[in-house]
Amino acid sequence: MPKFIIEGGHELSGSISVSGAKNAALKIIPASLLSEQTITIKNLPKIEDIDRSLEIITDLGGLVLPTPDGCTINTKDLTKNIISSDLANKLRASIMFVGPLLARTGTASFPHPGGCVIGAGTRPIDLFLEGFVAMGADIKWKNGIYHLTAKKLKACQYFFTTVSVTGTESLMMTAVLAEGTSVLKNCALEPEIVALADYLNSQGARINGAGTPTMTIEGVEAIGAGEFTVMPDRIEAGTFAIMAATTNSPLTINNFRAEHLESLLAVLAKVGVKFELATNSLKIISADNLQAYSIKTHEYPGFPTDLQSPYTVLMTQAQGSSIVHETIYDRRLLFTDMLTQMGANIIMCDPHRVVVSGPTPLTGHKLTSPDLRAGISMVIAGLIAKGTTEIDNIYQIDRGYENIDERLRQLGAKITRLV
Ligand code: EPU
Repeated sequence: MPKFIIEGGHELSGSISVSGAKNAALKIIPASLLSEQTITIKNLPKIEDIDRSLEIITDLGGLVLPTPDGCTINTKDLTKNIISSDLANKLRASIMFVGPLLARTGTASFPHPGGCVIGAGTRPIDLFLEGFVAMGADIKWKNGIYHLTAKKLKACQYFFTTVSVTGTESLMMTAVLAEGTSVLKNCALEPEIVALADYLNSQGARINGAGTPTMTIEGVEAIGAGEFTVMPDRIEAGTFAIMAATTNSPLTINNFRAEHLESLLAVLAKVGVKFELATNSLKIISADNLQAYSIKTHEYPGFPTDLQSPYTVLMTQAQGSSIVHETIYDRRLLFTDMLTQMGANIIMCDPHRVVVSGPTPLTGHKLTSPDLRAGISMVIAGLIAKGTTEIDNIYQIDRGYENIDERLRQLGAKITRLV
């Protein structure tokens, strides 16, 4: 199995550009099912999750043609309406295909999606299913496969009892082709949702209120398809900022959209990281005297759960004790056990909270990446550890960070990929 070998203790320097946002791209690809016309996607990140997502399109009978910075997709002649178990098992975002497929063809079949093991059990999809039923779909479950049918989807009034990013996007996309005006309440507010809504509106959809808790979606007969440029990945940007702070390295991060990372920037300032913002970049100047600061993950615009694990590594280098409170996912703090093996002083209070006391030197260790964000956090830990760190199961890291080893080597990191 491919692995990373990292020799710690080398300062990074220079500049790095943020790639296209995984969690925006993973929604525009299924959105291509809503139209019979060709969509052009630009600034598409070259990561495993995107490859899997495009494989689902091809498997359904769609046509994907690569372009220099992305691809075009045409789904006019679909040949299947079932998401294959092989692909669904590898990708939680496979669930994003269900609503558009149902809206376009009247049927959709799929197994329970796989992906990162970070939430309760197998990460629930109850909100999706309830939403589809509210729009008039009939659901049958046979031999591990959900079968959805709906002659014509109708508008729904739906309140999300839990704020869900993909749940919001999924019902929003499905409602675009439903009959009547849907009202979705307690929606997620992520910028990727606004980008998706703006694109769909530019192609004839009538979505109001994206980026606010209440959205109304007036169904239309059909939508066109045009060009979508994927926004910079705010989680990758935040990861690089935390990496620079943890390694106390002067780094400039380009394609940095500060308006998407206000919570992180506020926290970094409190922790004592010195940085400068320019129109499209963030420069980390120094992080000499880090102070512990407690955080609680929160839906956007709060502190992102996807930056919790890198931040926990940062706290191992800060003076004092901090509580890292993970409110979104049940299992996202379990990786801290590996930081403890590297010498960190971390006490788990309960599945949602750890106390990190620092600063503590870390030493290299043999680790296995359990999920994408924990995986990149191990890379950060490896960069500051004394000695050599070996990280296994790096498919998990490649799922979301494009060509990460080569990009880090350009900054001076001693990281090797063994295949
Ligand atoms: N939830 C339910 N029922 C559902 C759906 C979700 O109870 O039907 C719960 C989840 O178990 C969780 C909470 O709702 O406790 C919030 O999860 P959400 O649905 O918002 O997560 P998601 O939409 O599956 C997206 C990102 C995640 C990111 C979260 C939170 C994509 C493809 N994934 O997931 O990204 O952590 O929002 O911001 O957009 C990552 O990039 O590493 C990643 C995991």
